[in-house]
Amino acid sequence: MFFSQLFSLIVLLVAQVRALSWTATPFNPPSIPLAVRTPYLSAWLPQGAGVALNDAWPTFWTGQILGWAGFVKVDGTAYSWLGAPSVPDATFTKATQKSFKFTATQSTFVLSAGPVDLTVNFLSPVEPTDLVKQSTPFSYLSVSASSTDGRAHSVQIYSDISAEWVSGDNGLVANWNTSSGTILTHQVQLASPTRYGEVNDHTQYGSAFYSTPNTGGATFQTGADVTVRAQFIQNGRLANTRDTNFRAISNNWPVFGLAHDLGSVTSGSVLFTVGHVRDPAIQYIVKGGALQDRSLFFWSRFSTTGDLITSFINDFSGALSRANAFDSKVNNDATKISADYASIVSLSIRQSLGSIEITIAKNSDGSWNTGDVIVFMKEISSDGNTNTVDVIFPAWPIFLYTNPQLGKFLLEGILRYQASGLYPNKWCVHDIGSSYPHATGHNDGRDEAMPVEESGNMVIMALSYAQKTGDNSHLTTYRSLLAQFTDFLITDSLIPANQISTDDFAGPLANQTNLAIKGIIGIKAMSVIASRLGDTNGANNYSSIAADYVTRWQGFAKSKTGPHLTLAYNNDASWGLSYNLYSDKLLKLNLFPQSIYDLQTAWYNTVSQQFGVPLDTRHTYTKSDWEIYTAGLVTSTSTRDLFISRVRSYAASGKNNVPLSDWYETTNGVSQGFRARPVVGGHLALLVL
Ligand SMILES: *[C@@H]1O[C@H](CO)[C@@H](O)[C@H](O)[C@H]1NC(C)=O
Ligand SMILES: *[C@@H]1O[C@H](CO)[C@@H](O)[C@H](O)[C@H]1NC(C)=O
Ligand SMILES: *[C@@H]1O[C@H](CO)[C@@H](O)[C@H](O)[C@H]1NC(C)=O
Repeated sequence: MFFSQLFSLIVLLVAQVRALSWTATPFNPPSIPLAVRTPYLSAWLPQGAGVALNDAWPTFWTGQILGWAGFVKVDGTAYSWLGAPSVPDATFTKATQKSFKFTATQSTFVLSAGPVDLTVNFLSPVEPTDLVKQSTPFSYLSVSASSTDGRAHSVQIYSDISAEWVSGDNGLVANWNTSSGTILTHQVQLASPTRYGEVNDHTQYGSAFYSTPNTGGATFQTGADVTVRAQFIQNGRLANTRDTNFRAISNNWPVFGLAHDLGSVTSGSVLFTVGHVRDPAIQYIVKGGALQDRSLFFWSRFSTTGDLITSFINDFSGALSRANAFDSKVNNDATKISADYASIVSLSIRQSLGSIEITIAKNSDGSWNTGDVIVFMKEISSDGNTNTVDVIFPAWPIFLYTNPQLGKFLLEGILRYQASGLYPNKWCVHDIGSSYPHATGHNDGRDEAMPVEESGNMVIMALSYAQKTGDNSHLTTYRSLLAQFTDFLITDSLIPANQISTDDFAGPLANQTNLAIKGIIGIKAMSVIASRLGDTNGANNYSSIAADYVTRWQGFAKSKTGPHLTLAYNNDASWGLSYNLYSDKLLKLNLFPQSIYDLQTAWYNTVSQQFGVPLDTRHTYTKSDWEIYTAGLVTSTSTRDLFISRVRSYAASGKNNVPLSDWYETTNGVSQGFRARPVVGGHLALLVL
């Protein structure tokens, strides 16, 4: 007993010492985004209480290792700066991490390697208004060396990736090749790819690319991890040789190395880019049931991946300055709420946008139809569904903030499918494919039914897009479908049947107070839609139904024993986050009376745990996206800030090591089953009110 307690104490102290051995700005998150751009280009550095860049391997969002190593030689001494390589035949030490910082688009580490400091910058561009750039599945890694003693030093910089980037099964055989023009590029792929396949959430087709400008002193090598890394550590350069013994990913671990000799310098930098390209990207069901192959938007500009990589590398300084401007804008906008809020928002952006892919298809003459864009989203971790309506809904604020067009293109894939008539139910479908990257629908109508949730979500998002942009085209095209969803809401939202809401992990429940709010807001939203389309009678009709429902809902929804709304009608002791009221604010409907907002605001103040207000009385866990939505609807700044600061405490708690989970325990700050989900885009909710 005593020894185990002592051991725990030592572990705790070591953890704290490690967390304190470098500065983390604004804080150390559960996992650090390194290269996060698509559901399949998603590399992270898990943290827990704090892990240096060269203390562990980067991982895929699932936690599976992605071999990604880095060494530097300074005056003949080798240091590792990335990953946790072991190289039996060579001697090196670890560079010492001094600082870490994240912004919306970048994760930056400073490590000291003898008399030189290395600044290692991982930039995953966020360019939602440029569909070519946003659809480019590549990320930058730039490494700058700078002398700390004023003298010039001999510096060589090395990095590699392994074949773990091309599959979720390391027993599969990969092959690879290297091109050496103005850019050195390694390309690696499975020997037997499976189109549209996944294993352990990794894609099973397409290629990974690792590149660097072929400037003076650049060298390359492919081969076994221990061979290639030892070659660099011993010689400061690679052998420019190709290993053509194609083999399994884990069979003498082939790696793809790139190195630069900067010579004797006081400062210098090198650039690497990593990416994963597959084509076609998405299989989509169209009217009549045929399956359409869709490709990433960037193909409308580039005909080869080589051209894409050249452009991406040449654009680095422009991309960096645009990223810095975007980071500043996000930080300035969010800091108007609070510094805590700005840190949560900055951490959420790459994760959320890393769930989407922007696609186009070909015309019959083989040209690209860039007028027909559909964006696809992988639900990630809670399920592998494609375009889950109640995952797009919580993420919606990030699209409103960065580019509402992307939101329209996300809805388009769902609305077009349902308008095709292939889906048999009258309510809005839950998703358009049970496993990404298939968007093949649910023609049997047996998707995960969330009838009020998804119908309300869709009408609300359709109106939100139109309000934000002034573009009514979606409302016009899908008017009858939206009216069909609204008819369902009129039937089932005042007294919602026993069903699940988006918080499906909590199980089904009848008469959910918060779900009724969503449905009633949906009806009112349809009134505004009718009005926008010139249908005054329809607008008045929907509006009077919604107003009548609000009155009757108050009779059902208020607890008779405590000053709060219930979780479910007739259960007076129950309560929960009534986060669906957020849409009343977002759409400026003024549908629910001020007294309801005041009631809930006062109540939440009294029931917060250390890391936030529980989702409802069934459990003490909560959802970070709904905490922030609720922060957006409460009527007092101090209550708003309570929600924000507790979410930040959770994110910075040091107790978690997965890409930020939206689902966590309010009593101890430990995350629950989810990770890396796009819904953290909902943390931008306060920026779009
Ligand atoms: C690898 O080989 C394929 C097939 O010959 C070719 O299309 C591709 O451009 C090559 N990639 C590199 C990086 O050389
Ligand atoms: C739902 O609430 C209504 C109104 O109070 C009530 O009549 C009905 O019995 C409830 N349904 C269930 C399944 O509890
Ligand atoms: C109002 O809308 C509902 C639902 O669409 C419809 O059933 C009803 O007939 C409409 N009433 C009027 C007066 O238009």
